[in-house]
Amino acid sequence: MDRFVICGGNPLVGTVRVSGAKNSALPCMAAAILTQDEVTLENIPQVRDIQTERRLLSSMGAEVELGSGGNDHRTTICCRNLSDPVAKYEIVKTMRASSLVLGPLVARTGMARVAVPGGCAIGGRPIDLHIKGLEKMGATIVQEHGYLEARAEHLKGAHLVFDKITVTGTEDLLMAAVLADGETVMENCAREPEVTDLAALLMAMGAMIEGAGTSTIRVQGVTGLHGANYRINPDRIEAGTFLIAGAITGGDVTIADCNPDHLRAVIAKLEEAGTKIDVVGADAVRVRSDGHLNAADISTEEYPGFPTDMQAQYMALATQADGVSLVKENIFENRFMHVQELVRMGANIKVDGRTATVQGPAKLSAAAVMCSDLRASASLVLAALVADGESILDRVYHMDRGYERIEEKLQGLGAQIQRMGNVFPVREAEAFAD
Ligand code: EPZ
Repeated sequence: MDRFVICGGNPLVGTVRVSGAKNSALPCMAAAILTQDEVTLENIPQVRDIQTERRLLSSMGAEVELGSGGNDHRTTICCRNLSDPVAKYEIVKTMRASSLVLGPLVARTGMARVAVPGGCAIGGRPIDLHIKGLEKMGATIVQEHGYLEARAEHLKGAHLVFDKITVTGTEDLLMAAVLADGETVMENCAREPEVTDLAALLMAMGAMIEGAGTSTIRVQGVTGLHGANYRINPDRIEAGTFLIAGAITGGDVTIADCNPDHLRAVIAKLEEAGTKIDVVGADAVRVRSDGHLNAADISTEEYPGFPTDMQAQYMALATQADGVSLVKENIFENRFMHVQELVRMGANIKVDGRTATVQGPAKLSAAAVMCSDLRASASLVLAALVADGESILDRVYHMDRGYERIEEKLQGLGAQIQRMGNVFPVREAEAFAD
């Protein structure tokens, strides 16, 4: 397994370009199932989850080219021949988002066999709301031997109200609805930009959708969809992670190729914490900090609130802020895996249920630490960038799932970070993923 060696203390300075959003790319790639035509997606990040999604679609009979036409960030997908509409456990267990093929498979082929994803580091991650919506649209779903088997002669439009706001649940059922008979109204939907991105692709393919990005989405089913060329959004969580990297190191960093509109809650919180943030045109944000940070509380909420995917990164920043910051995690039941590792580096953090109390500023000292999930890994990198000495971060494959060439991007900003191959290579693919 690869590991990072990071020597802390350098303020980060310069410009970094953000990759495309992993959490847009995954549903958009699954949307190709809905047509026999070719779908081309631009601005695809080169991260492990995209490779996993390629393996998943290919295992069903799809033709998936990553880096098509010599462009490393383009993928071309053709699902004309879906010979085996099954999402196998050995793939699903490494990427929960595999459940995103459920809705499109039933909509296109009338059946799907999808391994039940099971839990992960950050929580139980059920997909009961995906199932409930498909059943309301006429699918019969049986669960046995760790698999969901869904069948439907033809899905029919329905009035769905989500019991809880679910991002991939909204995306899965949106993809089911676009080919269903009649109208589907979905209420209490997720409003994340990744949902809007998927809806834009589906409309480019001929779907009839209103209200994406709001809590009520209205879909008029159509008889078929055609191919499309579509460029996905920049990754707002990667952009937010680099904003915190500039803030925590007392640097001056411009994040380019991002969408500042998707970062409003993060920008507001960083300003409250005492950093200077400037939106530069339509696709860049600059963060400057003199290293003095004020404590500020966060409570994670669905979009447009403070994102749960930024909670671990913010906690690293809060360890350096002057005073007590309360970090409340409202979305997932176990998303504090980074806390113990931060404490081992010298942070002063107490967890009580879903609230962490962070007392700062704490002098962090370099240590050997273990990454446990995608965003916890980012938190440990941020802490190591300010820790005194050389930190070793193990199991960075977690980070490679959602951050493209992170060490090269950080090196470009002046960070002292190196990737070291491990002498004991293990089957990383066996690792369970969040
Ligand atoms: C998406 O996961 C993201 N993943 C996650 O990003 C992100 O943290 C999460 O949304 C919240 O924003 C992708 O988009 C691929 P949810 P998702 O369904 O859709 C409960 C990352 O770091 N729930 O919105 O799986 C669930 O347990 C990853 O990039 C049900 O109870 O999250 C959770 O408490 C991690 N039943 C809450 O809803 C369901 O059927 C929100 O989960 C579905 C969800």
